[in-house]
Amino acid sequence: MNKKILIVPGDGIGQEVTAVGKLVLDKIAEKFGHTFTYDEALIGHVAIEATGNPLPDETLEKMRASDAVLFGAVGHPKYDNDPTAKVRPEQGLLKMRKELGLYANLRPIKLFDELLGASSIKPEILKGADILFFRELTGDIYFGEKGRKNDGDTAYDVAEYSRFEVERIARKAFDAARTRRNKVCSVDKANVLETSRLWREVVQKIALEYPDVEVEHQFVDATAMMLIKDPTRFDVVVTANLFGDILTDEASQIAGSMGMLASASIGDGTGVYEPIHGSAHDITGKGVANPLASILSAALLLEISFGLKAESDALINAIDAVLKAGFRTRDIADATTASNMILGTEAMGNEVLSRI
Ligand code: IPM
Ligand code: MN
Repeated sequence: MNKKILIVPGDGIGQEVTAVGKLVLDKIAEKFGHTFTYDEALIGHVAIEATGNPLPDETLEKMRASDAVLFGAVGHPKYDNDPTAKVRPEQGLLKMRKELGLYANLRPIKLFDELLGASSIKPEILKGADILFFRELTGDIYFGEKGRKNDGDTAYDVAEYSRFEVERIARKAFDAARTRRNKVCSVDKANVLETSRLWREVVQKIALEYPDVEVEHQFVDATAMMLIKDPTRFDVVVTANLFGDILTDEASQIAGSMGMLASASIGDGTGVYEPIHGSAHDITGKGVANPLASILSAALLLEISFGLKAESDALINAIDAVLKAGFRTRDIADATTASNMILGTEAMGNEVLSRI
């Protein structure tokens, strides 16, 4: 198979982990006889520094012209404490999602057995947890009108959803449930929000097309609690942009660490694959970031954009073998055993590479 992959490392540890993600893709190409060609592009803070624009047109064009994008992270601390900054790295990410029509963000939460002791949640509660989140990615309070009034003393962000936006993400979630355990939990705040009432109405209607799938509607505050209390009750979870952002950071603890969670952003065009973690400037340049989320993102890329399931499984099995051998990055070190061998980013990447 011949494919063009665009590497967009972005900021902070995005650079370090995406380098590893690319190496494993190369290894897969070599082992399975594919030809992957690569190009690279800028986004986020590094793009602002180079061009003044967090998503240069050139990057967007390269994305459109490629078969898939392996993405790192965006963000820089200098903007975080400067609420008046007009140009911000995150604008690049949001614009990319909108421009490429990446309306469905899949975030699989699955604990590797070896990491049962690495989570702050009790092993007996976690065992068997396997959740697939569908976070809507191009609507909601993220993209509605925002502004200031009353001489700047009042601020607003409008949350908005249209029927078709809920329909298409709901269908994706129901379709996925059919390939899993046939359960969908739709999360909203329909007791308060009008957008959520539309959301629930549409999901109820779509559910009629899937009589074989069990549907549950939950309020987001209850879901936040249930994820920790009883994570194994969930199969597919579908929710709006902001709720999905928050709940998946929470749910990353079910997988042991943010450093283990990959995501796929898909729509009608090129798919973008990225860790859910951010640029983590506190550890940038230290060589300690966990590259496994980038490797798992590469696995999603192979499976979803290229339909290469065996290749994708080869990556997951290699990670499994590395964890079984006792290797850890420091974010997934198990406090309950002394037998972990703590590795940095590159060394962890090499352990995975040697097992593909
Ligand atoms: C994510 C991130 C982004 C989001 C930020 C960086 C804008 O947290 O991808 O989850 O909120 O969507
Ligand atoms: Mn987030």
